This record gives sequence, C-alpha cells and structure tokens, in this order.
Amino acid sequence: MENQIKYVQLSADNEENCMIFISLMNAYINEMNEHDVHPLPERFRQKWINSIIAMQGPADRHLELCYVDEILVGFLYGKIDHEDHKGFIKPGYGYIMEFYVKPEYRRKGYGRMMFKRLERMFHDDGADMMYLTADPVTGKPFWEAMGFVNTNEQSPENQQDIYEKAIWNNVYESGILIPMTKVMADEISSWEYESPYDVYSFKGRPNGYLMDDSTWGTEQFCLTDGGRILGQVSCQYSDEDLWVGWSMAPELCGKGNGADFVRKCVEELRRVKRHTGRILLRVASCNQRAIKAYQKAGFVYVETILDEIAYTGHSEDFWVMENRM
Ligand SMILES: CC(C)(COP(=O)(O)OP(=O)(O)OC[C@H]1O[C@@H](n2cnc3c(N)ncnc32)[C@H](O)[C@@H]1OP(=O)(O)O)[C@@H](O)C(=O)NCCC(=O)NCCS
Repeated sequence: MENQIKYVQLSADNEENCMIFISLMNAYINEMNEHDVHPLPERFRQKWINSIIAMQGPADRHLELCYVDEILVGFLYGKIDHEDHKGFIKPGYGYIMEFYVKPEYRRKGYGRMMFKRLERMFHDDGADMMYLTADPVTGKPFWEAMGFVNTNEQSPENQQDIYEKAIWNNVYESGILIPMTKVMADEISSWEYESPYDVYSFKGRPNGYLMDDSTWGTEQFCLTDGGRILGQVSCQYSDEDLWVGWSMAPELCGKGNGADFVRKCVEELRRVKRHTGRILLRVASCNQRAIKAYQKAGFVYVETILDEIAYTGHSEDFWVMENRM
C-alpha cells in the first residue's frame, strides 16, 4: 500500500503525545464500553490510562501512535508477556492489549498494516505466538480476518475469549523502497555486523558512494517500514541488465530473514525502476550465508568471476547470480 503509516512510540516524558494518547484512549474506552457487558467503571478510567503511560520503557513493550500523512489515525499497544507482569497469561507470547483505529479511518486497511507492524515487532522480540482477547463487535471480525482463532479459553482478567495466532516472520511484507536521504545515509554509516561478516560493516569506513546524493533515488534506496530502515539497496544498469546490491539492518541479520528481505527488494526494485529485464548480483563465493538466502529467493548461479573485495582491495572469487523468480 502506498500510504505508509508513521509510528511514534509513546513515552511518559512527552507530554504532548501523552495528551494525544489520553484522548484516543477515552474514545476507545467509550466504544469498548458500548460493546461490553462489563463496562470499565468510570473511577478506574484515568488510573488505568495513567498506568499504561507510566509502564512504557521496556524494549519489548510497544505503544505507538499511528499517523498517515501527519494525521492521527489510531494507536497500537502490545507487549511480550512475562511472568513478573501483573495478570500475565501466556509467558513468551506477544500479547495485543489495546488496538484502535479512529472510526472515520476504518475499513481502509490501516488496522491490517498496524497489526502487521506489531507482528513484526513481536517477531523481532523473539516470540513465536501471539494472543489477545477480542472485542465482540469490531474486534472479533477484524482479528479473525487477520488469522486469529478462538482457543475457547477465557481470560481471567475480562472473561472474554482468548484468540491466538502463530507469528509469521516475513518482517518485510509492509516494507517499501524509498530514495536514500541524508538522515538514512548517516544512520547506515553506523551499521556494524558481527564477525565473520564484519567485512561488510559501514561503521568506521567513509563511504563516498553512500554519501553521493546525486545517486539517491536513482541508484540508492532504503527499504523502510514506517520510518524504520530495514535495509539499504543499490542498483546500477549495465546495458539492459540491472545489477543490485543490498545490506540488511544489522539487528535483522542471523534470524532467518535473508530470503524474505531479498524477495522484497527484488519486488520493490522492479516496481520503482519499472524493470522487467534481468536482475543480477555478485556475491563472494565464500559468503555461504548470503548465497543460501539468494537461492531461496530465486537466484541461480551464472558464472564465477575474479573480482576485488570492497574495502580490502584483495581479489577473490565471486559468483554472479541471476534472479529467476
Ligand atoms: C478493529 C479495528 C482496529 C479495525 O481497523 P480497520 O482499520 O477498520 O481494519 P482494516 O481496514 O485493516 O480491516 C482489515 C479486514 O478486517 C475485517 N474487518 C475489519 N473490521 C470489520 C468489521 N467491522 N466487520 C467485518 N469485518 C471487518 C475485514 O476483512 C477487513 O478487510 P476489508 O475491509 O478488505 O474487507 C477498528 O474497527 C477499531 O479500532 N475498532 C474499535 C476498537 C477495537 O475493536 N479494537 C480491537 C479490540 S480487541
């Protein structure tokens, strides 16, 4: 979808965002109360909202305001359940706690996009499963459409049915390719990879090409999701062939994401460059981790060439691979 959502994590020290959240929560509670046989007693309302705000901070707790073209459309709130959490039900699971799209923005696909983001964050937090208790009127049809199934267990907290779903790890599904910018290039300049892949690190190696703004948007792009950089992508034409190269954000490496990342980059490059011809890349023949991901994503071996390794200046064998998907 072209309309990307901007996500802003709430923190207690941002008073303006807290006020925005409070007004959204009040609208959300009003609506939930209309649907619920056990409405939230008024005396608990403000206390509950304040406690949610105060709880923000841990990296696996996500409360985000959601904006489309700078307009507030709703919020998402989920966390990883831990045994030291009050009222925990399924430790290690992602738990979707509150989720709201303002009425005037419903049925436009925003809820789905927000859910996909939360699913991806749960995946990055290390969870394999997620659960929620569904509001019977607007929640149930939405969550069923998202693939959740009723476990027939009841939450001791609110007596509602517990729905759950396996977390699907295509973290790149909602990513789009956008032109490189200075802010993004600066962030990428600090990327570091763990050994033995540290030869691909950007940090500490001035990279004139990355910083060359005349190539931003023509040769250099970022795969992003709501402001988060998922990967850096570059491409250059040689005759009719498009030669490509990319790097995944370091925190996404080593988690089985490689093939999904490559598939998404190819799909997005074809869209952005309107390219229907061959897509080729070169990869060091010793980089078996990358080769496996490329093969899984539909790249096949074409030939071996002797070429120079970036940064070190040494020559070594590279595979040329072509995308056949
Ligand atoms: C539930 C909610 C977040 C859905 O947001 P949304 O932006 O309208 O959702 P989407 O447009 O992404 O809907 C995705 C799909 O879910 C299903 N769906 C969503 N709302 C539905 C409804 N009221 N009735 C039937 N199906 C529905 C549809 O299959 C829809 O796809 P379609 O529009 O192509 O048919 C929103 O209705 C809401 O905030 N409701 C009040 C709060 C709430 O219930 N939160 C959940 C608490 S458990």
